[in-house]
Amino acid sequence: MDKAKRKAIIAGNWKMNKTPKEAKELLTAIAPLVADADCEVIACVPYVDLAVALEATAGTNVKIGAENCHWAESGAFTGEISTGMLKEIGVEYVVLGHSERRQYFGETDETVNKRTKAALAAGLKPIVCVGELLWERECNITEEVIARQIKLDLWDVTEEELKNVVIAYEPVWAIGTGKTATSDQAEEVCAFIRAQLAKLYNQDAADAVTIQYGGSMNDGNADELLSKTNVDGGLIGGASLVAEKFAAIVKAASK
Ligand code: PGA
Repeated sequence: MDKAKRKAIIAGNWKMNKTPKEAKELLTAIAPLVADADCEVIACVPYVDLAVALEATAGTNVKIGAENCHWAESGAFTGEISTGMLKEIGVEYVVLGHSERRQYFGETDETVNKRTKAALAAGLKPIVCVGELLWERECNITEEVIARQIKLDLWDVTEEELKNVVIAYEPVWAIGTGKTATSDQAEEVCAFIRAQLAKLYNQDAADAVTIQYGGSMNDGNADELLSKTNVDGGLIGGASLVAEKFAAIVKAASK
């Protein structure tokens, strides 16, 4: 296994934070701090911030992502955003299947799969989130849960398309709780995800997929988490809202 084969990716997931004005300020602060990053740097921002975010990061190495997208090209889906809308304004990445979407907005593996396929068809790069609940970990079914999510969320995704997929392992009990998975726990599940990908595709295809860890990753624990063989980056919530903290994580991934 050769970690160097994979692109390290640090992505901020801003969730429902920052107005367009605040987004511009934050990205203007982040961009110079990460200018010499030796990893991919992404900010996934609320829909209304996308235009201003793209403008604020034009000509920099910071890429912009959305936090969801619908699978239909257009139509009667009040409140949803299509892949074509994102693509047209220059968005490159999209977070899909985040546990908050699954928990609070009825997202299922079936809808995550539909969104993933639509994103890939439109030329967007999905960051597909998987992760177990605390209860599931306590019942010792983490691997079953993850295997099922990987299989269903990537159902019908071709080996060629897989090259544009990023997986984020986010144990739900570690998100926004300050409770980070230990680096060994993160490595164990990220390695399991890669083994599942190898089963579904092949080892070479699996080895090329960037697998992020997410869940209370911050400037204090990023070094340790990112040192693990199968942890290729991070999906960062809280710490991505503070320029210096986010930049420190980017620096840790650039080593
Ligand atoms: P957190 O969020 O870093 O605030 O725990 C991570 C995420 O939900 O992507």
